[in-house]
Amino acid sequence: MDRIIIRGGERLIGEVKVSGSKNASLPIFAASLLAEGENLFHNVPKLRDILTIARVLKNLGVKVQGENGAYRIDATEVSNNEAPYDLVKTMRASILVLGPLVARMRKARVSLPGGCAIGARPINLHLMGLEAMGAKIDLRSGYVEAKADRLKGADISFDTTTVTGTEHLMMAATLAKGKTVLQNAAMEPEVVDLASVLKKMGAKIEGAGTSLIEIEGVESLHATEHTIIPDRIEAGTLMVAAGLTRGNIKLHRCPFHNMEAVIHKLRETGMEIDPEGEGVRVIGSRRIRSVDVKTQPYPGFPTDMQAQFMTLMSLSRGLSIITETIFENRFIHVNELQRMGADIRIEGNTAIIQGVESLSGAQVMATDLRASASLIVAGLAAEGVTEISRVYHLDRGYEELDKKLAGLGANIKRVKEKD
Ligand code: EPZ
Repeated sequence: MDRIIIRGGERLIGEVKVSGSKNASLPIFAASLLAEGENLFHNVPKLRDILTIARVLKNLGVKVQGENGAYRIDATEVSNNEAPYDLVKTMRASILVLGPLVARMRKARVSLPGGCAIGARPINLHLMGLEAMGAKIDLRSGYVEAKADRLKGADISFDTTTVTGTEHLMMAATLAKGKTVLQNAAMEPEVVDLASVLKKMGAKIEGAGTSLIEIEGVESLHATEHTIIPDRIEAGTLMVAAGLTRGNIKLHRCPFHNMEAVIHKLRETGMEIDPEGEGVRVIGSRRIRSVDVKTQPYPGFPTDMQAQFMTLMSLSRGLSIITETIFENRFIHVNELQRMGADIRIEGNTAIIQGVESLSGAQVMATDLRASASLIVAGLAAEGVTEISRVYHLDRGYEELDKKLAGLGANIKRVKEKD
């Protein structure tokens, strides 16, 4: 398993391009199952999770070819309707193939995604919605078996706002008979990007990006071409890295308008973040002001930026409070940050961070995708050397982050280890 070694203290200076969005790509890949024909997707990030969803699709008989960020996906022939445990367990968003398979092939068998480090992450709302649309759902030996001659439109209201739940049912509803209404739907930009792909495929969708989405089912869809939106969480992570190193960087392809809550909070800490030509200029301040944050569904402050922001607050000039409202166990990074000298106290779903003068480099271990990012950015600011193990977590969701940071002047290198 690879390790990343960082000698902290370098200011980040220069320009970097933000990659395509992981969380837009995954449901869009699943949507290819809804139609015959070859789709062409551009700006797909080079990530382990993308390789996993590609393997899930290939296992279903779908033709998948990817090179240099462009993927050709042809689901004309779907010869298998099962997504096995050994694939789904590595990437829980694989569950998103269930609805499209039932909608197009009338039945599917997909392994139940287990929990993960950050929480139990049930899919009860996904299954509730499919049942409301007429699917017969059986849970048997760790698999979801779903079948329906034809899904029918339904009125569905989510008890909890769920991103992939919204995406899952929006996809299934495109081929259902009649109209589906999703209430309390997720409004994330990735939901909007999926909806724009589905509409290009011939789906009838109104309201994507609001909490009320209406889908009028059609008889069939066709393949399309699409460029994936940039990854707002990678962009936010790079901004935090600049904030931690008093850096001065320019982000290209930065989804500035999808990042209001993050940019607002980072400006409150004293950073300057402004559009500059085609890109966004990001300047860190000498003094990092303490700011409180509470994670919320979009357009609130994203839970996927919580760990990275906590690292920034660990070097702020005072006390800040971070409240995690989305997942029940998303403070795993705290222990590792404490080992680097951070002064953080946890009370339930709240972290109280007392800023310290400096962090010290240490050997730390990544545990989940965004926790690993918080340790990387901590290493950039820490005194001395930080060594992060189990960086495969990082590679799931960040395209060559170490190379991008090295390109901005960080003293960072990856040590390849035979697995
Ligand atoms: C998506 O996960 C993202 N993943 C996550 O990003 C992100 O953290 C999360 O949304 C919240 O923004 C993808 O888009 C692939 P949820 P998702 O369903 O859809 C509860 C990353 O780092 N819930 O919106 O799985 C759930 O337990 C990843 O890129 C139910 O109770 O999250 C959680 O408390 C991590 N029942 C809350 O809803 C359900 O059926 C929000 O989860 C579904 C969800």
